[in-house]
Amino acid sequence: MSETFSIGLGNDNPEVRKRSEEDYVSFWEDQAKKLTWFEPWQKTLDWNPPFAKWFEGGKINASYNALDIHQNTKPEKPAIIWEAESGETRVLTYKDLWIEVQKTANALKSLGVEKGDRVTIYLPMVPELPISMLACARIGATHTVVFSGFSSSSLRGRIEDSKSKLVITSDGGYRRGKIVKLKEVVDEAIEGFDFVKNVIVLERTKEPIPLNPKDKLWKDLIDVASPECEAEILDSLHPLFILYTSGTTGKPKGVLHGTGGYLTHLHSTYGWAFDIKDSDVFFCTADIGWVTGHSYVVYGPLLHGATEIIYEGAPDYPDASRMWDIIQKHKATIFYTTPTALRMFMKFGDDIPNSFDLSTIRLLGTVGEPINPEVWKWYYRVIGKEKCPIIDTWWQTETGGMMISALPGIETIPLKPGSGTRHVPGVSISVVDEEGKEVSVNTKGYLIIKNPWPGMLLTLWGDDEKYKNAYWSKFENSYYSGDYARKDEDGYFWLLGRADDVLKVAGHRIGTAELESCIVSHEDVAESAVCGIPDEVKGEVIIAFAVLKENVEKDSTLLEKEIFEKIRNDIGPIATPQQIYFVSKLPKTRSGKIMRRLLKAIANNDTIGDVSTLEDGAAVTEVQRAFQELQKSIKEKNN
Ligand code: WTA
Repeated sequence: MSETFSIGLGNDNPEVRKRSEEDYVSFWEDQAKKLTWFEPWQKTLDWNPPFAKWFEGGKINASYNALDIHQNTKPEKPAIIWEAESGETRVLTYKDLWIEVQKTANALKSLGVEKGDRVTIYLPMVPELPISMLACARIGATHTVVFSGFSSSSLRGRIEDSKSKLVITSDGGYRRGKIVKLKEVVDEAIEGFDFVKNVIVLERTKEPIPLNPKDKLWKDLIDVASPECEAEILDSLHPLFILYTSGTTGKPKGVLHGTGGYLTHLHSTYGWAFDIKDSDVFFCTADIGWVTGHSYVVYGPLLHGATEIIYEGAPDYPDASRMWDIIQKHKATIFYTTPTALRMFMKFGDDIPNSFDLSTIRLLGTVGEPINPEVWKWYYRVIGKEKCPIIDTWWQTETGGMMISALPGIETIPLKPGSGTRHVPGVSISVVDEEGKEVSVNTKGYLIIKNPWPGMLLTLWGDDEKYKNAYWSKFENSYYSGDYARKDEDGYFWLLGRADDVLKVAGHRIGTAELESCIVSHEDVAESAVCGIPDEVKGEVIIAFAVLKENVEKDSTLLEKEIFEKIRNDIGPIATPQQIYFVSKLPKTRSGKIMRRLLKAIANNDTIGDVSTLEDGAAVTEVQRAFQELQKSIKEKNN
């Protein structure tokens, strides 16, 4: 039996779950009715596996539901309290945001952006980022936000794949007091792309930058834009956004989300999970470049007319107290962050959070990776002062919104540190074996989703086949999440990490195949394999193995530096391995598949296990030797 904690506060509304169990389709239909539709749908769900059409025939607009519907009831309520890394703050009320979004929508139109066009957004965490997204949504353009830490070649790949007509960026952004020059990255990324007609440049830092013929300054467009732009009447299935995410195969996949289903899922889960009240001040630390930012910084809170804090910079800048300072200053009531951030804060010690007034906080949440029970308890004790429930929310870019979480808005159930508790109402989740048969209680298996759910991705952008293969081919008519899990005697889910070749480093998704092909593209490298090993703060860090081409005589320190540089340029700093081991061969099966399991075991100092399928046993000895030698030299260096 694991230790349980009372949820403390919460509303008991067992009807919601009961209703969802009777008929999930009509249950979601009831939830959808809480949004504002221009026209009702004809069919709640058209399920033609693996393609789901939710609320077919219904007409809706995301920006209208996030902004217009609040104009009569709460125009002067702060929507966004933005804090810059420098400490500067800016408050945008629902009315301000509504006007800014309409102006921006008109600016997009003035550049010829039309319904159905794609717009790539590469901005730092400034209010203009959600404004740009909502402006796209308003006119029916599909936004594709790229995390501003990605390199120009990653950005280029995403612009090319989505064939974006327009890119929105800024002269730069601030990170740890330094300026990150985003416009330069965009210039490189769009070189030779005739389909990119314009680049809108927001002056964030006001550092002088060269402007090209395609560039338009944000302020020049906004100054002349009308503040009135009616929201386009869009189909429920209209593509709201593409968000690229790493998978098991080479290139990142363009996860495509629609409008009506996605908004229904978010409106429901945001309310259930955060028990949101009009008086709340919500603070989610996710960057909008990731799905958590799309769903629970932009759409979820605004659909509910909530007030939220958006912070621009690094969470520990200028020092380790920054998050607690923000909570105290703006009287945050709900805090939603990642286990990696919490592990970092915990290392800084209790005195720092204890010296701030965190008494406004009433609910805590985590997302993105498994949380260690001791970190959970620290969060509960030191940040929540043993009075706030913690929701551990499991979901994915593909699911659009939360799928497993405690839901204080509708249920009071005991919490178990390290478990996400139960699935959200209206979704059907199982843990199965290789054959797709449900495993018994407390047995590890694959986490699958059996019925379609409203926040489900529509497909992968431009690639229905890949969509089928990636998610719907391993188990018949079920969505394969790529995660391991077990379900305990109370029906609580325990997430046990990825079952596929996707790594989670500091909560960020990194595909091993993408990283390996980047390493191999270095002129001296013949072969490469990467794996993750546990890390105290980041959850997991990357270890790379590389076989060099014959006759390469470069010093390994120099080579390592060059490869790191290449990874930063091709993907971004988040994908940089902690270590590269140079070996003369990699352990492979007889059919030539690299045995990552073995590499992982060696890098973890674990037992190697069954090697009967191994083609050449010497490879293992070789990898072990490289590993031990390097460990020895690191130790010597540290002494
Ligand atoms: C992992 C992030 C354990 C999981 C919203 C999933 C989690 C992947 C949790 C999706 C959690 C997310 N506990 N693991 N609460 N939440 N994950 O697409 O491996 O960036 O498949 O979406 O993160 O990552 P993504």
